[in-house]
Amino acid sequence: MRMALKMVLPLIISVAVVSVLFAGYQVRTERRVLRNDLSRRAEILGQGLQESVEPLLDRMPDKSLQRLVDRFEGRERLRGVAVYSASGATLAITPGISSIFQTWPDVVRDAAAKDQEQGQFVRETLLDTSGNDEILPLHIQAAPLHRNGEVAGALALFDDTSYIDVQLEHTLRDSLVNAFVQTLLITGLAMVLVRWTFMRPLKRTAHWLRTLRTGSLNGAKAPPALPEGEIFDQLHQEVTHLARDLNTARATAEEEARLRETGASIWTGERLRVSLQSKLNGTPLFVVSNREPYVHSRNEKDGSIRVTVPASGLVTALEPVLLACNGTWVANGTGNADREVVDANDRLRVPPDLPSYTLRRVWLTAEEERGFYEGFSNEGLWALCHMAHTRPLFRPDDWIQYQRINRRFADVVLQEMEGTESPILLAQDYHFALLPRMVKDARPDARVAIFWHIPWPNQEMIGICPWQRELVDGLLGADLIGFHIQTHCNNFLGTVDHSVEALTEWDRFAVNRNGHVTRVRPYPISVAFPDTAATPGEARSAGAERAAICSELGIEASLLGVGVDRVDYTKGILERFGAIERFLDLYPAYQRRFSLVQIGAPSRTDIPRYKLFLEEVSAEAERINGKFHSGRWKPIVLLNWHHSHEEIARYFRAASVCLVTSLHDGMNLVAKEFVASREDELGVLILSTFAGAAHELTDALLVNPYDVSQLSEAIHQALEMPEAEQIKRMQWMRNALREHNIFRWAANLLSDLTEIRIETTERGEIRQPQ
Ligand code: G6P
Repeated sequence: MRMALKMVLPLIISVAVVSVLFAGYQVRTERRVLRNDLSRRAEILGQGLQESVEPLLDRMPDKSLQRLVDRFEGRERLRGVAVYSASGATLAITPGISSIFQTWPDVVRDAAAKDQEQGQFVRETLLDTSGNDEILPLHIQAAPLHRNGEVAGALALFDDTSYIDVQLEHTLRDSLVNAFVQTLLITGLAMVLVRWTFMRPLKRTAHWLRTLRTGSLNGAKAPPALPEGEIFDQLHQEVTHLARDLNTARATAEEEARLRETGASIWTGERLRVSLQSKLNGTPLFVVSNREPYVHSRNEKDGSIRVTVPASGLVTALEPVLLACNGTWVANGTGNADREVVDANDRLRVPPDLPSYTLRRVWLTAEEERGFYEGFSNEGLWALCHMAHTRPLFRPDDWIQYQRINRRFADVVLQEMEGTESPILLAQDYHFALLPRMVKDARPDARVAIFWHIPWPNQEMIGICPWQRELVDGLLGADLIGFHIQTHCNNFLGTVDHSVEALTEWDRFAVNRNGHVTRVRPYPISVAFPDTAATPGEARSAGAERAAICSELGIEASLLGVGVDRVDYTKGILERFGAIERFLDLYPAYQRRFSLVQIGAPSRTDIPRYKLFLEEVSAEAERINGKFHSGRWKPIVLLNWHHSHEEIARYFRAASVCLVTSLHDGMNLVAKEFVASREDELGVLILSTFAGAAHELTDALLVNPYDVSQLSEAIHQALEMPEAEQIKRMQWMRNALREHNIFRWAANLLSDLTEIRIETTERGEIRQPQ
């Protein structure tokens, strides 16, 4: 209260001063108006009298002049009238003023002397009826009188102006009361506003900062959310960044200290940054991927531009790498406001709140997108590599676009590399199988790696692709090819054996083609664990989170399962639903108790197979719900829209079981994210043996998603699992993940790449050690 008062005190003083000045101004104005009014009336009356008096001067001494002036005695505010001779002697005067104005006052003398009407406000001292002095405010209106064209005296009208003083007193009093009331109201309002708009949010911000600084969260994972509001938004953005950096720095320091203490060697974002800085020694790093790390889109409602980070493990992994070395990330610009924020060279500095590296955007037409992305990459390679029994489609036109777009990206990468000696390139995924060769041919001094984020099937399977040789040759342009697991490396070497002229060295997992060596290695991608960028908001217990989610979803369930996938036919979503149906048939005691929340972000919906699959998933959920639902309970809650990382984390924390039932998956980060989010060490992961993650998370309940009986039994086993066993399994998985996190993935990949020696001969040719 005192603080608020202190803040508004200058305001109170200013309002009071302004109000008083305004009151003074009002009084002055009113006095001027009243006086002008009186002067004007006196002037008119004076002129009338002057005409009546002048003829009577000839008849002097005569009583008629006195009779005339007597008629004005006591008229309205007229105190009296007097007629003076040219010498100033009284010729006629009303009795009320005869004692004071026996001789003419100065203003009347002046009027006669100058032969000109005059008016003046004066204050005269009179004796009242009881003999006391009375100050009388008067207005004297004087007019010269003429006889035969000569000034023969003067006429004076004496108006009592005390009514003006009374009126002004009233006005002044009213204005001061107004000023007082205004000051009180404005001050009161200002205090309320200050308290609500500033003091409270500032207090909360201070409390928020203190909680962060002291780390006294009293068991909560994160402090309460910061207050919102337009004027605070900018401040809060800065404070949030500051707090996040502070938190990250503290977590990193704690982690480092813990690691030193335990002697463990865990990779953190900070360690990766420091390690890369010394390894790369200032060499800029280039990344090329189809998806971009920042998407700019225009908000249709208010026209503002919003920047979003796609929920992708790739950004988490590669951002620290780029931050460490001021690199350049080349990607397809897909946001509808992407073009508005780049410079003339299609570049912009990111991240937006701490610009540290360059994002170079490449634009594709709808036709190019159709052939390169939807066609060859997704209808062709994606279907081929996943072996999920969706027939791959290989159209010659799509292949042409795939080659053209690989060329375009390669040219952009080469342009960005100009002037950089021995650059390092990390190409990403199946969209760019041809690019490593294109870059390497033009820049043999570059170290090129490509990471293939999806499975690599066996040689029979890959042989379906009419252009398998070109794909393999393109990939072999890289110095290093990374896959998630050893099986994919084996399959790749097998494919090389059967498709191109090259020496495959199985003992050291390398391929020698025309004198150039490509290493092939597994690098299991992961998540940022421990999650140093803790999400703000209240951390609830699993039970409380489940209750909150059920009430938000309008369902009743005492046990929740969760599935999080892009709606993709490789994810085994229909198989999962089938297992839920069988489980509820076999174990009816779980009806009205267990629900699966399936978060299914629609994906690649311009591709007919995906559109159809989305419909199939919705229809199947509807069918199963129709079979079992009862009251506010239903077995499957399908949420098919995009959810943020924070929203998904809530579902993970609330679930008793997470189902990852991919028919085939390179890694599947959902499985790892579920484990990373379970700080309470509870919950069970059901994981397909066909996901790369199954190689690391062996304490999950591993299932064959095609086996509906096994899958439904696994759901039962998960829901019946004693807490002690849940904890044991979760601890093992969390320990594995803690060590094999995303930073380690990036560190291993880059460390292997930077260790590859590229030497030049005396003639300047590149000679790579074999
Ligand atoms: C997989 C691929 C990624 C791809 C992601 C999302 O994880 O390996 O390269 O970005 O799916 O798919 P989208 O087609 O939406 O980029």
